[in-house]
Amino acid sequence: MTERTRKVRTYHEVADPDSEDIVGQIEAQRSKLVGRLADIDRLVVVASGKGGVGKSAITANLAALIAERGRRVGAIDGDLHGPSLAAMLGAERTPLVVSEHGVEPAVGAAGVKLMSMDLVLSDGAPLEWRQPEVAGFVYQSTLDTGAVRELLADVVWGELDFLLIDAPPGTDKLARLLELLPVIDTLLLVTTPSEAARRAVGRTVRQAHGTGISTIGLVANMTAHECPDCGRSEPMFEADGAARLATETGLELWAEVPFEPRFAVATDAGRPLVLEAPESPAARELGRLATKLANATSDTA
Ligand SMILES: Nc1ncnc2c1ncn2[C@@H]1O[C@H](COP(=O)(O)OP(=O)(O)OP(=O)(O)O)[C@@H](O)[C@H]1O
Ligand SMILES: [Mg+2]
Repeated sequence: MTERTRKVRTYHEVADPDSEDIVGQIEAQRSKLVGRLADIDRLVVVASGKGGVGKSAITANLAALIAERGRRVGAIDGDLHGPSLAAMLGAERTPLVVSEHGVEPAVGAAGVKLMSMDLVLSDGAPLEWRQPEVAGFVYQSTLDTGAVRELLADVVWGELDFLLIDAPPGTDKLARLLELLPVIDTLLLVTTPSEAARRAVGRTVRQAHGTGISTIGLVANMTAHECPDCGRSEPMFEADGAARLATETGLELWAEVPFEPRFAVATDAGRPLVLEAPESPAARELGRLATKLANATSDTA
């Protein structure tokens, strides 16, 4: 392979200024996104790097709770291939309406404005891109990133106090999402006390530290479980991975949310626990987390 064929060229080098104006298109998309997000006060990304730790459930509950407290809240399901936020906010079957300004978001529990691939795909269908039969993987990341950009930029969010983004698992996908966003006020990293979560989320913390996000909070989920017979609180995991992660990274644990069977029953059915059972221990801890988030984001204003 010669030096010339190995060189990776930038858009500016690739684009023929007289043809499709790729650079111009990308810059126009970028300024549209920046314009759309200009009316949003606080951008919060909920991520992990580990699957199944409760990112979507925590995003849905936080969004509903903050909206219930009277703030204007939007939520984006950044997980294109495993969307769950529309169902958790009770807006799964909302038909999308396109106005002259863009796509109108669905409205879920407590009035949260919402956009998710769930609303675009027909019932239960997986997301499949139209792409060449061979080497479709070459296009995959570009198509996914373009779709997330559209969820951000083509939706009529209007003025919001908070926009929460539920990031998909995987540090590669989080990196693409962070690249798209002009500014992030807070990154919440959800973990569990397990060793596997400590290792995976530890990688995400190192990745996040390299991006210059100033406010990062750790949320330990599924920490303890209350025995239904004797009422005693038992740890869910023998490991103390979440506490160790906090010590190792110097990040603060913003919340320790217990495991509660009705958390999943209510949230998965579109009735976030914070609305369904606000006095439950998990809902109260989420309440403290919402307060912490509001205070942290206003500190950095
Ligand atoms: N504290 C909790 N107590 C009981 N159930 C919980 C708790 N937190 C989350 N769950 C439930 O655990 C399941 C997995 O949570 P969720 O889908 O939010 O995880 P996730 O991190 O978004 O997963 P993925 O990586 O696939 O996107 C859901 O059914 C959710 O309602
Ligand atoms: Mg999820």
